[in-house]
Amino acid sequence: MADELIESILNESRSFAPPKDFIDQANIDEEKVNNLKKQAKENHIQYWATLAKDQLEWFQPFKNILDESKAPNYEWFNDGVINASYNSLDVNASKSPNKTAIIFETEDGKSEHITYKELLSKTSQFANGLKKLGVEPMDRVVIYMPMCPEAVIAMQACARIGAIHSVVFGGFSSNALKDRIEDAKSKIVITADGAYRGGNIIPLKQATDEAVSQSSYKVENVVVFQRTGEKIEFNEKRDVWWRDLVSNCDSNCDPEPLNAEHPLFILYTSGSTGKPKGIQHSTAGYILHAKTTFSWVFDIKNDDVFWCTADVGWITGHTYVAYGPLLAGATILIYEGAPTFPDVGRFWDICEKHAVTIFYTAPTAIRALMKHGDEIPQSYDLSSLRLLGTVGEPINPEAWMWYHRIIGQERCPIVDTWWQTETGGAMISPLPGITETKPGSCTTPMPGIDVDIVDELGEPVGEANQGGYLVIKKPWPSMLRTIWGDNQRYIDTYWEKFDGRYYVAGDSAYRDEDGCHWIMGRIDDVLNVSGHRLGTMEVESALVANEMVAEAAVVGRPHEVKGESIFAFVVTKGERPIGEDAKKMQEALREWVAEQVGAIAKPDEIRFSDNLPKTRSGKIMRRLLRVIARDEAITQDISTLEDESIIKQLQGED
Ligand code: WT7
Repeated sequence: MADELIESILNESRSFAPPKDFIDQANIDEEKVNNLKKQAKENHIQYWATLAKDQLEWFQPFKNILDESKAPNYEWFNDGVINASYNSLDVNASKSPNKTAIIFETEDGKSEHITYKELLSKTSQFANGLKKLGVEPMDRVVIYMPMCPEAVIAMQACARIGAIHSVVFGGFSSNALKDRIEDAKSKIVITADGAYRGGNIIPLKQATDEAVSQSSYKVENVVVFQRTGEKIEFNEKRDVWWRDLVSNCDSNCDPEPLNAEHPLFILYTSGSTGKPKGIQHSTAGYILHAKTTFSWVFDIKNDDVFWCTADVGWITGHTYVAYGPLLAGATILIYEGAPTFPDVGRFWDICEKHAVTIFYTAPTAIRALMKHGDEIPQSYDLSSLRLLGTVGEPINPEAWMWYHRIIGQERCPIVDTWWQTETGGAMISPLPGITETKPGSCTTPMPGIDVDIVDELGEPVGEANQGGYLVIKKPWPSMLRTIWGDNQRYIDTYWEKFDGRYYVAGDSAYRDEDGCHWIMGRIDDVLNVSGHRLGTMEVESALVANEMVAEAAVVGRPHEVKGESIFAFVVTKGERPIGEDAKKMQEALREWVAEQVGAIAKPDEIRFSDNLPKTRSGKIMRRLLRVIARDEAITQDISTLEDESIIKQLQGED
């Protein structure tokens, strides 16, 4: 496609209708979706009840649908009894025992297929192992694993026995792991001896040892899956090898009958304070939305090979790796390693090798791979692909067009799915056989999801192209239930702004003339770095925890590949470092933040000044810092600034 054409698309914001052959075979057609939307509009509660009955297997059916008595702690189906692992594994292992559930591709290029029957028996065996360690319903279990089938097995095993899993991304540091162990009071940690990443080994067990030894909450056992065979420290009293744990365990384990509202998992995500929030999800409501959105948005068919590149350490890896696809009986691909190993063609190589049909990734990955040109993907056979997806941040139209043209070869619809850790599953997204897509827009809400854009007073903006707060006006089954251990923070963060009337997502957005939604970004002090949410305060607290640092302010700056990069302004305790000293200290602080939080939180740039710009009342002028970080001209009034002379230092000119 010629450059002029792309240009015109961007200018005219052209839309792309689904290809005719896609429409003809799509799971949901226009009539069906209109029908669903009509039902949801006429009777929101009944709509969800019908879906929950049709889509899930209940041990005991529910009579209550939505319980608003403790709003905004809404409950769904709360007299029903169910099990998430039963719905994922037993149901599908009895329907199609020999169907492949997981294709596992290792970083060094080997692969393995696991059927539903095998996945059920491995999960049951491990669930029995956890029971042997004394794990009971409601106990928290931290999972700190590489991307491999055992990570999914560990999650499903927890679900099976009613333990609450808290997966911690393997890229987080031992310190971040420790905080999460303490906050959730987890008596078990499941980890591996190491994780392969980009040809290196990440020492997960070592990080676990550090976290556990520093944790104020006593971890009773560490279960270690052997992935790399590297030599590790082994504490005989506390540690147990995964294989030893399961060796005498039965491969049948009755799924625990659990209340629909039983917490399925906690997943920590960043907010506007330094302390991550443990987002708590329920069982029935969560799996209902995971299953239905998976089937609708990804148009899943029996012979599809679905690949979501997200790690299970993020919500995307929960909903569209560990739960949604398995609930729908689909075949998923799990890739262990880095997208650039051994070279930047690896993703496309995997698509070709395993004939992937549906590919779901983040805009940052698309931009990173796009940088290496068209020839690399073009040298692979990508003809198996039929549908593409993106998630995590707004996708810029240029990257969308490249994805469409070079990866989808103009044949595959693109679903740009807007959602959050808190929403549990996709909320605004095209339905690929129906929705006309526009590069950069996540288009329209899912049936049953009541989205609006409101002004400062909570009034709908009404008009097209008018920006405002993105809110959800009615409760939905897969909404978060609370913040683990801090219900007040749940209320304050998501409900207080509009007096409990709506769920406030924390994004600003607008709707265009065609009813398509465009996400403009976060309205709080939250950054989106490579599709991962990171609080500016989290990075600031890490910086000030360093003995050399007196004060720090962190802002985001637009970045070509990462979406946003991290820019830190730091005041040191002694003299302001300059020249070589400044360079050394920058490096030391970057490493420090990586140790405190994880490599994703490393500031891309650090600038030292004698002071931070503050108003006379002592407030840090963040807007000014954002302007400076972007190298833009300062147009705002700085007369209220306490000390104008530091501007040059902040601009890096002094
Ligand atoms: C925030 C949620 C949902 C899983 C991955 C991130 C941004 C997410 C989109 C999208 C524009 C998006 C929002 C949201 N976001 N998807 N398709 N278009 N922005 O989950 O870490 O909970 O972050 O990511 O700002 O609030 P998360």
